[in-house]
Amino acid sequence: MYIQDWLWYDLDETSSTNDVAIELSANSEDEKYIVSAKKQTNGRGRRGREWHSQKGNLFFSQAVKDHVDILNKLPFIVSLVLLETIMYFEPKASVKIKWPNDILANDGKISGILLEKASNDYVIIGVGVNIVSSPTSNISYKTTSLKQMGIDVDRIEFLKQYLEKFDEKMKYLQNYGFTSIIKNWLEHAVGLGQKIVVNSEKNSEDGVFCGLDADGALLLRQNEHIKKIYAGDIFIKKDNTENE
Ligand code: BTN
Repeated sequence: MYIQDWLWYDLDETSSTNDVAIELSANSEDEKYIVSAKKQTNGRGRRGREWHSQKGNLFFSQAVKDHVDILNKLPFIVSLVLLETIMYFEPKASVKIKWPNDILANDGKISGILLEKASNDYVIIGVGVNIVSSPTSNISYKTTSLKQMGIDVDRIEFLKQYLEKFDEKMKYLQNYGFTSIIKNWLEHAVGLGQKIVVNSEKNSEDGVFCGLDADGALLLRQNEHIKKIYAGDIFIKKDNTENE
């Protein structure tokens, strides 16, 4: 079965669509494929977290070949495509991107992305979108769903639009380069120019989010020094009035 020009496995239930996509990569050669599921029993999020996979929401994993060299660019491409897909269904929606790739709608997380490497030079792009509901218990941040935003869309209809926009964005990358993707991404960024805290596995850093470098690393201004941050979670500081 195909969806757009992607070989498509739509499962009723699985532990994690990323796990299935990784397993399939061992016996896949050139073709791009996608695994989606109506139900996930062990959805995974970034940094070892759980992805609460509520019934009716969208869970899918794209397997793309020979994209390892653009692995660090994909979070920016995919998050922009997700934002544009939501805006396609509701042009007036207030949608933002929180570095590196969380999609926030009305300040609540609506979508997350988990990138993983697989066999045969495949990269797996795992995406969860809250279509009809969003988790509230055991979650430390605000969440929302398309339904809560007043957007009534079927998960497959959303997926089709997303894939169309994803393919367009990859062509755009080839034609205009990553710098214009970054420029576009920054127009939708949460916390740009503001005081933030970046929590990574080992430590926590304070500073002003002053931009991204050419590869997408976050530029954090700490007094006169600019530090590059490659991974972590950002939090906007409540008091953003004083100078750093
Ligand atoms: C995050 O924000 O932490 C990333 C969440 C990624 C969730 C998706 S749902 C489909 C795919 N399968 C998984 O187990 N995880 C990703």
